[in-house]
Amino acid sequence: MDTPQTASHRSLSERADELEEQQMQELENIIIQRSLLYDLGNGHQPTYKRGGLGPGRTLMMGEDPRLPEMPDAPTLMDFVKLRFSIGGQQHLLQSAKRARDTGQPEKVIFACLLHDIAVSGFIRADHGYWGAQLVAPYVDEEVAWAIKAHQALRFFPDEAVGYEYPEMYIRMFGEDYQPEPYIVAEYEAAKNHKWYMSARLICMNDVYAFDPDVQVTWDEFEDVLGRNFNQPQEGLGNDNSASAHMWRTLRRPCNAL
Ligand SMILES: [Fe+2]
Ligand SMILES: [Fe+2]
Repeated sequence: MDTPQTASHRSLSERADELEEQQMQELENIIIQRSLLYDLGNGHQPTYKRGGLGPGRTLMMGEDPRLPEMPDAPTLMDFVKLRFSIGGQQHLLQSAKRARDTGQPEKVIFACLLHDIAVSGFIRADHGYWGAQLVAPYVDEEVAWAIKAHQALRFFPDEAVGYEYPEMYIRMFGEDYQPEPYIVAEYEAAKNHKWYMSARLICMNDVYAFDPDVQVTWDEFEDVLGRNFNQPQEGLGNDNSASAHMWRTLRRPCNAL
């Protein structure tokens, strides 16, 4: 166990690694929990494992009584508060805070605020692509593009702006790790894109946004969210947008069909 002295002597990057690992574990637990829920029926009855359907036994459909109740017309903040992992939220907030503190454009601050939304609330694999699709109907096209592209750009240095290959990735993926061809192709395409710098700035702010000693609140970005996220009146998931099904899945992840 850490004494206060050893804790204070550990470097920021060491503490950041620990936090990242903790966040991954937290998410893994959620996934395990969610996939187990597929085996449970309505009213907490473990129907599936005990022989499936039968009198009085149905599969999970509709609102899940084991998850926090959501309003009929949920907003982005409802999803953040009731479905997102807490550790992941600090990462989003810290990256947006750095963008704001260093005087970056509001579009970039907002993109940082949502850049890992898929990791925090939905799925880790291909998180840039999932995250971009999730928010695309409600945000500026450039923001969605930058969220998608940051996934690839994270792996490629840009000396002109002082971005190096993240040291954290060497520990996370191994020294010999090479990004897959689709990531390389995404990077090549993004490199000459007119919105390249927006995605690159997400990566720049990303690196510094794992500080376990910093606590940022969503209230600080209420104005940015209000101006940049086009909240549907019907509620996310009820509006028949191109990503409404994803919000519905976030809301009720264990429905049988
Ligand atoms: Fe990311
Ligand atoms: Fe990130």
